[in-house]
Amino acid sequence: MDRLVVNADLGTQKISRHLYGHFAEHLGRCIYEGLWVGTDSGIPNTRGFRNDVVAALRKLNMPNLRWPGGCFADTYHWTDGIGPREKRPTIVNVHWGGTTENNHVGTHEFLDLCEQLGSPAGPCEPAICGNVGSGTVREMAEWLEYLTMPGQSPMADLRRRNGRAEPWPVKYWGVGNENWGCGGNMRPQYYADLYRNYASYCRHFGRQKLYKIACGHLDEWNEVLMREAGRFMDGLSVHYYTVPGPWEKKGSATQFDAPEWWVTLKKGWEIETFIRKTAGIMDRYDPQRRVGMIMDEWGTWFDVEPGTNPGFLYQQNTIRDALVAGLTFNIFHAHAERVFMANIAQTVNVLQAMVLTDGEKMLLTPTYHVFEMYKVHQDATLLPSHVEAAPYTAGGDASDPKNVLPQVSASASRDAAGKVHVSLCNLHHEKGAELLCDFRGMTAASVTGRVLTAPAMNSMNTFDRPDAVKPVTFSDYKLGKADLRVALPPRSVTVLEIA
Ligand code: AHR
Repeated sequence: MDRLVVNADLGTQKISRHLYGHFAEHLGRCIYEGLWVGTDSGIPNTRGFRNDVVAALRKLNMPNLRWPGGCFADTYHWTDGIGPREKRPTIVNVHWGGTTENNHVGTHEFLDLCEQLGSPAGPCEPAICGNVGSGTVREMAEWLEYLTMPGQSPMADLRRRNGRAEPWPVKYWGVGNENWGCGGNMRPQYYADLYRNYASYCRHFGRQKLYKIACGHLDEWNEVLMREAGRFMDGLSVHYYTVPGPWEKKGSATQFDAPEWWVTLKKGWEIETFIRKTAGIMDRYDPQRRVGMIMDEWGTWFDVEPGTNPGFLYQQNTIRDALVAGLTFNIFHAHAERVFMANIAQTVNVLQAMVLTDGEKMLLTPTYHVFEMYKVHQDATLLPSHVEAAPYTAGGDASDPKNVLPQVSASASRDAAGKVHVSLCNLHHEKGAELLCDFRGMTAASVTGRVLTAPAMNSMNTFDRPDAVKPVTFSDYKLGKADLRVALPPRSVTVLEIA
């Protein structure tokens, strides 16, 4: 039997709600169609944003939304997206399919969307990424003035002429995206100097202090950047995608066998190695852990659905994606002392999406349900826990760590009301797991929970069967005087509440 020990009376580290952030890029059908249908659409909308999608996303307690990219960010000139929509210039979206972008979703629309996505749990804060690759220092500084200046100034006056009197509460600010690649193919020393230059003029013109995020990457880049510019940043952005195969043949989102299931979860788990390595570099230059690691793109990346535009990155989403999401959150929690914000790529119709749309139809993906189930961890206190689980191997030599995954991943937290939540992922594609849970420092008097599982490895929601994969009440447990025994179904994500 597997074992879980939770130290329910220990723990001081908060799990930042911003780990549950999202990302919407001008890419494929994410912004246009997925979120924005325009004010004249027959699809019910509020000032152009579709009501069904916004209502679904509000239930996730979205803490933030990253925009406008991605690679798109370093081609985006914000002045193209203000003023009367019919007068805005069109541009070519060079990174994503060469489509024509009419700029109908610009600054005002995006910030309206954030306001619509706020929930009773808190606001959905904008996390804007500025253009370093093809922009200028002045352009970025003026965007911030436009967004945040309360008094009179050229940009604040322009904002007022465009219909917005008050500044917006913008705090999270990315200084470029992937500037080692699509954002300019720069070298680390060059970007470090550019970052220092741009960041000097990135000001919040109101009372808020801006949280400036530098573009990170891999080892050497992060080393140079932390050394040369660490003291000028609040966050370091890094990206991690779970891709089962090589880049040229990533693998299908829906047609895969057990070995490919295993490899996907193994690669998903390797985000922990990446976090440790990156944190090690950050620790050398920032031992106080003032700078947050910002995992502002993560998730599965498969081959696009057959017959869809390769530049649109549209993929289906199965129970396997749900496992990657649950596992990743358990890992983020374990590193909450350094990882402050994360944004899954992406919100609608792109990569590991929450929501897929087809005309007026919409469905919630298995990944959506994980975000909804896990929201109880947002801003809760991480409880130190330890899991001892059976090895899950893909065959081969089980004594070689590279062939082994722990079958169960777990995380526990205590919320402001004192309730303990435990999230459990049984990664095995066909075997259940028996887990003996020991809650130290509390008497578990009651248990409730929900489980997300599915009949097959590739079960998914479709527009014909949108509820094929959804959470149900979890009842396969036995609460004794001193412990709790749970039986986790194969390929499942379970969240329990212990009181
Ligand atoms: O999320 C899709 C793309 O992946 C983003 O535009 C880019 O930043 C990353 O390479």
